[in-house]
Amino acid sequence: MTAKERLIAVLDVDTKEEVKILVDALKNEVGMFKIGLQLYTSMGNEIIRYIKDRECKIFLDLKLHDIPNTVAKSARVLTGLGIDMFNVHSQGGYEMMKKAKEASVAEASALGIDAPKLIAVTILTSLGDEEVQAIGYQKTAKEMVAHLGKLTERAGLDGVVCSPLEAGLIRDKCGENFLRVTPGVRPLGGAVGDQKRITTPKAALEGGSSYIVVGRPITEAEDVVKAARSIVKEMEEA
Ligand code: C5P
Repeated sequence: MTAKERLIAVLDVDTKEEVKILVDALKNEVGMFKIGLQLYTSMGNEIIRYIKDRECKIFLDLKLHDIPNTVAKSARVLTGLGIDMFNVHSQGGYEMMKKAKEASVAEASALGIDAPKLIAVTILTSLGDEEVQAIGYQKTAKEMVAHLGKLTERAGLDGVVCSPLEAGLIRDKCGENFLRVTPGVRPLGGAVGDQKRITTPKAALEGGSSYIVVGRPITEAEDVVKAARSIVKEMEEA
């Protein structure tokens, strides 16, 4: 994979007009676009069709978490939209993840398309040890990440969303082919915003990230193309 293919740009906006500006500018600069809860709750599947019509890849970041039957049925519907990657919460459990993956693969096969990559969130990077233990887990956040990463792999999923600081740990536990998709990346000299545990694009790849997810450093730049190119350049140094 090229550095560009490993770069996922975040579309954390509400309107089609804003999406159009970003997608037109960035479609040849990044490998994929991430649609999260903000844009999806505002525009729904219309925005997926819009981006797909422009022949761009989509990571739908809805972090599904419900009983196995409900998540599996949603996974089937989302697969039918032709997205390239989507995710669930690993804390929904082994059965939920396994059923979701099976439903997605079955639907893709029925439609004659490639199944999207299905990855799982382990522990949200916004949670520290104290909060993890307040939920009732005995382990530290890092131990939970390793534990849930392994559970995700056993359930047959393609990888996890994790902090770039945990990507190496997951690679060691689950192998090179198990994807590590990492937000919390800031280019050299970039504004940090509300992200706490961050690293640079180069360090993320060197530390074991398969894909890096970058939002504001690109979308809030004066020149989004220049910002994306400079991140790709940093990634190429890894
Ligand atoms: O703007 P920024 O680069 O911080 O955007 C990061 C994106 O990744 C946001 O859409 C955020 O919701 C998402 N994300 C994250 N940390 C996680 C999971 C998702 O920052 N653990």
